Amino acid sequence: MCGIIGYLGGREATPILMESLKRLEYRGYDSAGVAVLELPRAGEAVRTSITKSEAKVDTLIEKLEANMPSGRLGIGHTRWATHGKPTYINAHPHTDCKGKIFVVHNGIIENFAELKAELEAEGHEFPSETDTEVVPHLIEKYYKGDFLAAVRAALKRMKGAYALAMFSSDDPELLVGARLNAPLVVGLGEKENYIASDITAIIPYTKRVLVLGEGEVAAVTPLGAEVSSLDGVTVKPKIVHVDWDVTQAQKNGFAHFMLKEIHETPEALANAMRGRLTDDGLVSFREFDVPHEQLRNLNEVILLGMGTSLHAAMIGEYLLEDWVGLPARAVDASEFRYRRPTFADNALGVVITQSGETADTLVALQQAKSRGALTVAVTNVIASSAARDADGAIYLHAGPEIGVASTKTFNSHIVSLCLLAMRLATANDRISLERRHELVEAMRALPEHVKGILARDKEILGLANKYSKYRNFMYAGRGIGYPVALEGALKLKEISYIHAEGTSGGELKHGPIALLDDQFPVVAICTASATKDKMVSNVHEIVARNAPVLALVTKGDRSLDDVATDIFEMPAVEETVSAILNTVMLQLFAYHVAVKLGQDVDQPRNLAKSVTVE
Ligand code: G6P
Repeated sequence: MCGIIGYLGGREATPILMESLKRLEYRGYDSAGVAVLELPRAGEAVRTSITKSEAKVDTLIEKLEANMPSGRLGIGHTRWATHGKPTYINAHPHTDCKGKIFVVHNGIIENFAELKAELEAEGHEFPSETDTEVVPHLIEKYYKGDFLAAVRAALKRMKGAYALAMFSSDDPELLVGARLNAPLVVGLGEKENYIASDITAIIPYTKRVLVLGEGEVAAVTPLGAEVSSLDGVTVKPKIVHVDWDVTQAQKNGFAHFMLKEIHETPEALANAMRGRLTDDGLVSFREFDVPHEQLRNLNEVILLGMGTSLHAAMIGEYLLEDWVGLPARAVDASEFRYRRPTFADNALGVVITQSGETADTLVALQQAKSRGALTVAVTNVIASSAARDADGAIYLHAGPEIGVASTKTFNSHIVSLCLLAMRLATANDRISLERRHELVEAMRALPEHVKGILARDKEILGLANKYSKYRNFMYAGRGIGYPVALEGALKLKEISYIHAEGTSGGELKHGPIALLDDQFPVVAICTASATKDKMVSNVHEIVARNAPVLALVTKGDRSLDDVATDIFEMPAVEETVSAILNTVMLQLFAYHVAVKLGQDVDQPRNLAKSVTVE
């Protein structure tokens, strides 16, 4: 989704905007632009220079390097097209009729057509097809010499979602940010301050971050930031310290962020467990410190998420049923929000979201809250909207994830859900000390096991090269192998653009098997589990249709030796642990297929890292 950066301080703004836009590329975008308020030369009036590119940030940077605007105030944007194609005209920043007000925007102004008609009737002209363009014109309409007042008046007219960074050439010492249903932070530096759509853009410059709340406006000057409501009432700002370091947001010698992040999985998993799990398998969460009695009363868990996070939620569903014996359901948050879902009296709503900003997930969270559910956000981003809106947070502490396709954080989500299930099972006396010891041992060994899979990268590369010639793939699994199959298929299609679908082994016969032939391989998850033998039978059925089979099996299991086309042996581990190991293998497989096909692995076409519009 669109990325935003704004700078105001004592340094040249353009190089900072360029660097930050590079760091925002990971969010997924199609065009980019900056506006810089230029320092007036002797005898000249103030002017703002706008530079845009209808292509990637690198093209924008080339343009800027050829003609570098000099100024201390500027805004930049990477655009993920919603209204209007990714053209030069539609790229942000947008301006008003007089060319004095400059705006970049993430989100959708839902009533833009109505506002545009009103403004057009009053003589405003709109060169672009975007919804965003109404914002500078609306501010222009209300501007009577006080920029902030005009911004507030304009915002009050707007419906939908916005994160905005704005300035007026009449106010060279003022940068304004505002948000509603889309994330925005203010980075606080030394005599210089920033506005950004997410922390990644500004981590090299500051670790002090002011997180703007819904419906709040930040008036940023070189010396600080004042936060207020749309009515102008001052709000006490929430300032957090971010512990991510800048090297985590660089590739460190890896060819792609995705590969680097897959390799960070062992550390991410250790971080998800750190300080939360005793030797006796007792679990505590600092930001979700709910008494035993309250957890005992729970009679239902609803897990909500989108994309990869929905697959993690599905694994959570299995774990909660199996380990805790609680009714649990994983639901696509975008569907949930428009249903009239039932809630038990004492329900727990768990939102799974790496970014903590996915629009559909946030609305589903509100719905769960409004229906009286206790809520917790399992998220990677400190003080993200989900973390702030839910009653509690379980942070992944996985470090920034830049690759659009989620990898390490999927597995961190699973580990966090294991811990949550252990916590609930203990509170409900559903787990013996012996079983807890078993699980602690299995989970603590997990990072080393993952390292073992990572060390077999060449073997996986060989398989990927062999299979990259196919244009269709089926992934099949049962039990927690089913969501793993869905995730494996999602990874492959996201970054390689090969058609891939996931199915449960049981469902295969009810339709998907009709697709299979010798050009339609199946990745079969057959590692040890209660349903492994059923999967083996499924593989026989697949092979009978001539489809090539790449089977993931537990070391020593010979049942598919003469059946599958290729076998990848996995260590014998606890079933949940094997779900993580299988996923890491499938992530690497998808990665190598996509690289072999020459695709843009970190920024796949049409996709965004954080989907902040519905
Ligand atoms: C986008 C990303 C996916 C991600 C999904 C949910 O579609 O491309 O990788 O799984 O959003 O994101 P969240 O931040 O809520 O986990």
